[in-house]
Amino acid sequence: MKKLIGPFTQILPLAGLPLKGALKDEQLQVVANGGVLTEDGIILAVDDFEKLRKNYPSAQIEEITGDHVLLPGFVDCHTHICFAGSRAKDYAMRNAGKSYLEIAASGGGIWDSVTQTRAATEAELSHLLVQRINRHLAEGVTTVEVKSGYGLSVAEELKQLRAIHQAANKTHAHIISTCLAAHIKPKDFDGAESEYLKYLLSELLPKIKQQGLANRVDIFIERSAFNASDALFYLSRAKQMGFEATVHADQFTTGGSEVAVKARAASADHLEASGDYEIKLLANSDTVAVTLPGASLGLGIGYAPARKLLDAGACLAIASDWNPGSAPMGDLLMQSSVMAAAEKLSSAEVFAGLTYRAAQALKLNDRGTLTKGKLADMQAYPCNDYREILYQQGKLKPVRVWTSENND
Ligand code: NIG
Ligand code: FE
Repeated sequence: MKKLIGPFTQILPLAGLPLKGALKDEQLQVVANGGVLTEDGIILAVDDFEKLRKNYPSAQIEEITGDHVLLPGFVDCHTHICFAGSRAKDYAMRNAGKSYLEIAASGGGIWDSVTQTRAATEAELSHLLVQRINRHLAEGVTTVEVKSGYGLSVAEELKQLRAIHQAANKTHAHIISTCLAAHIKPKDFDGAESEYLKYLLSELLPKIKQQGLANRVDIFIERSAFNASDALFYLSRAKQMGFEATVHADQFTTGGSEVAVKARAASADHLEASGDYEIKLLANSDTVAVTLPGASLGLGIGYAPARKLLDAGACLAIASDWNPGSAPMGDLLMQSSVMAAAEKLSSAEVFAGLTYRAAQALKLNDRGTLTKGKLADMQAYPCNDYREILYQQGKLKPVRVWTSENND
């Protein structure tokens, strides 16, 4: 059944824009008084509403009244929202001036979330995850990547990944799972970091493949986690097994983005510590640079050099990093708007980073623009000018969100 939705005061299809580099708002195509024609959750046409109504007289009409701006649904390409418990005490300790090591020594940090997540059942985890995903969906995020990484043993990582799969059946949002068993070496593993990675390669990744629980692996490259050469070995082996790679790179120290580029990873995420060398490497590669303003806000540190990355020609995506430790807020639009003011990003750059460029970080080419053949994942904001959306710094929320799974 064909469906015509509109009229919208403005539609921003984000069509025909480059995958990489800086963008000016003047490059944005704006369809005034537009409509979207869909069938079975797929976009057939975006055009003038009245013209579509005349050309498709039998289409069912979903009439939109009042001023609205329509955007593609956002793609959050980096989250850790499959967790139990809270780390509010870490946050308070950080704000009281305590260091990472002091917080870890007093029972906080990633290991605390591992303990709390291991204590939850698969059903409990899935329930918590669906609640977070549906909050995201109501705020316009129609595709959500979700990492494991709070299990850190074969059984517990599989439990997390199964919880993520269960959640996918209970929401209209699209979910992409990633194995982050290489988050940190767990305290209860008897052996070196490199041995833990070999254990993951031989004991965990084959099971994930067999059970179809994830097609992507992530690794945290940092002094407190894994070093560059162990990580390169891990990612190359995982790629040989058929996984896509992504990296937690250059968060506090550099080295991670170089591994990401060498491993031809789909994305290098964080980049707060990246300098000119790393910016050039990323700009000259096919690896998407993912900035995570929510982690900068949660930790009270500077943003990744988003402006410089774009000017150098990188493909820049923006994701929330929503997690219980460094990025507890989870409001992707608010974080992006606030970073845009500090980093001097145009609306076009922010919307591209939240849609088709973020889809590229997940290697998804069926979404991210409002064009013929793409998924009808869309969101409508109650305003008459797209510039209102960043201007209101995340307080203006979409009033209607469609995904290809609930389009009728
Ligand atoms: O992306 N940097 C490593 N991992 C997460 C934090 C996870 C946590 O603190 O629980 C991040 O910031
Ligand atoms: Fe992260």
